[in-house]
Amino acid sequence: MVENLTIPGSAIELPGVHPSPNIQKTPEIYEIENHAVDPEQKIEACMSRIAPWDNKVVLDLGAGDGFHVPRLRETASWVIAVEPHGPSVERIRKRVASLDRVDVYQGSAEHIPLPDHSVDVVHCRFAYFWGPGCEPGLAELERVIRPGGTAFIVDNDYTGGTFAHWVLRTPNWTLHNPAAVEAFFLTKGFTFERIVSEWNFARREDFESVIRIEFPAEDAEQIIREHKGTRVDYHFLLMHRQY
Ligand SMILES: C[S@@+](CC[C@H](N)C(=O)[O-])C[C@H]1O[C@@H](n2cnc3c(N)ncnc32)[C@H](O)[C@@H]1O
Repeated sequence: MVENLTIPGSAIELPGVHPSPNIQKTPEIYEIENHAVDPEQKIEACMSRIAPWDNKVVLDLGAGDGFHVPRLRETASWVIAVEPHGPSVERIRKRVASLDRVDVYQGSAEHIPLPDHSVDVVHCRFAYFWGPGCEPGLAELERVIRPGGTAFIVDNDYTGGTFAHWVLRTPNWTLHNPAAVEAFFLTKGFTFERIVSEWNFARREDFESVIRIEFPAEDAEQIIREHKGTRVDYHFLLMHRQY
């Protein structure tokens, strides 16, 4: 592989790097969220039907704190985590300290610190690939993925589910035009799978703390007043392309 890079200073200055306040300000709550997400692992099951990664090299791009790395590593020959945010990179390194077959690099979707055609499968979940503007990252995927390899991009499916309903009614939700985003990825050769799943929390207070990091304060309190229990109907969009 390549030298174990750490880019000095704030990687947030790399082109295309966006802040992620949920995981960066409150990593312990984002960890709770990740444990609640898609408890039956329908996303991984769908990915594995499309492009199994047994004995393959997997890149987790925008890996956050590396939550998905041990899962991906279970059957992969090697997993490489790439993440721009320095403190998150350190948390990945702690998480995988006792694991072999894992490399962790600081980098970004537009600057993947890997050689050409060096990975078989890319997993990128809730990071960078938000639609128009991510063309430099798509070019990097094309560069690092081996012929026949597959990229997976995991995002919210805004066409259904309680979570999407909450997001779409949030007044200052200006980031996304879901239809335009989907149209963009279709033109880039991606195929879509819509996965009906859920968040399932162990405790009510976990649900409430996650809602408070994902929504502005007033909207979060409204959701907490309205929604009972510990489960939320949540639909995912899995976009994939073979290279
Ligand atoms: C919401 S978190 C998701 C983390 C992880 N994929 C997960 O599901 O647990 C988004 C991550 O994308 C990273 N990120 C931001 N800009 C990026 C870029 N240009 N390329 C790759 N990752 C980026 C952030 O630093 C953050 O760790």
